[in-house]
Amino acid sequence: MSDPWDLSGEEAPRLVDPVAGEGEGAADAALRPKRLADLAGQDRVRDQLSLVLEAARRRGAPADHVLLSGPPGLGKTTLAMIIAGEMGAPLRITSGPAIQHAGDLAAILSSLAEGEVLFLDEIHRMSRAAEEMLYLAMEDFRVDVVVGKGPGATAIPLELPPFTVVGATTRSGLLPAPLRDRFGFTGHLDYYTAGDLASILARNATLLGVESDADGIREIAGRSRGTPRIANRLLRRVRDWSQVHGHHRITREAAQEALALFDVDLVGLDRLDRAVLEALCHRFDGGPVGLTTLAVAVGEEADTVETVAEPYLVREGFMVRTPRGRAATPAAWQHLGEEPPSSPAGRFGQQPPLA
Ligand SMILES: Nc1ncnc2c1ncn2[C@@H]1O[C@H](COP(=O)(O)OP(=O)(O)OP(=O)(O)O)[C@@H](O)[C@H]1O
Ligand SMILES: [Mg+2]
Repeated sequence: MSDPWDLSGEEAPRLVDPVAGEGEGAADAALRPKRLADLAGQDRVRDQLSLVLEAARRRGAPADHVLLSGPPGLGKTTLAMIIAGEMGAPLRITSGPAIQHAGDLAAILSSLAEGEVLFLDEIHRMSRAAEEMLYLAMEDFRVDVVVGKGPGATAIPLELPPFTVVGATTRSGLLPAPLRDRFGFTGHLDYYTAGDLASILARNATLLGVESDADGIREIAGRSRGTPRIANRLLRRVRDWSQVHGHHRITREAAQEALALFDVDLVGLDRLDRAVLEALCHRFDGGPVGLTTLAVAVGEEADTVETVAEPYLVREGFMVRTPRGRAATPAAWQHLGEEPPSSPAGRFGQQPPLA
């Protein structure tokens, strides 16, 4: 059997990148919980979904269409697979970018079996024509197949057996309202608590056949940015470290040593994140400073700072975006082990942060 932890084909992503690396899918898949009951965290979505699925099973009908939204790595694909599993239904997987033409979608729709779950990942990236075809199909279970070309082309309506669309998106705001309205249930996934991540990690350490201490698991959970995909990735590195050093248990020391080696600090900041904080606090006295200037100071593209480092720094309250640029919060200095300067109002230029 192949070792799901062998990621030799993986493009080294940033260790704390929430987006899956090239070739990381296999390792992800090996750790996906298969049933709702195995899912840790997202209690609300899990309970709501459980009800929706149970009701459908009792009616003996396919479940309502489900839309899953939320940041990368929180379990949308996992949930889509669980939905099919719980319904005992076959699963068809495709994604918005794979559907370039309405005809691509028509081909998929017209070959669905009754009750089949059609998982449409990145549904916000479908073409407009496909979107329109999709929401008609979702509502009426019908698709118009166009036969022929040019003036002689005719649309032949084709009845479809009832099926369930599970759409996943990181950008639900980009979905046109008519499409969004066709989903009977929308589950919004949120970042996980450290406690939930610890349950996931403990389970996965076991799956991997490695022993772990609660302290070791907690240490990894705290650095995982609320994201199971990151937690699993850190777990793999800590496991590597433990094995190479001849330890058979994931202890707190192992987690600390391994994650220090990979430059992931106590709250999950990596080298770039810390460089941004240091530049902000030390070179620009806490700001506000323009993004481009800040990026030059850390030797990165403005785009990288904005899309890679900034979201988590803002989310964790280390940095704010103000009308005059980026500014550090007192928490930034505290994280760097320093006293924040005494007049924070001056630093924010008396302006409220942008939402
Ligand atoms: N609730 C959970 N319990 C246990 N493991 C989870 C949970 N959610 C996600 N995971 C793990 O995290 C990994 C990433 O999850 P998944 O691929 O479902 O995320 P996603 O939301 O589809 O991300 P993307 O937006 O990048 O497609 C999976 O391999 C899975 O093992
Ligand atoms: Mg996914």
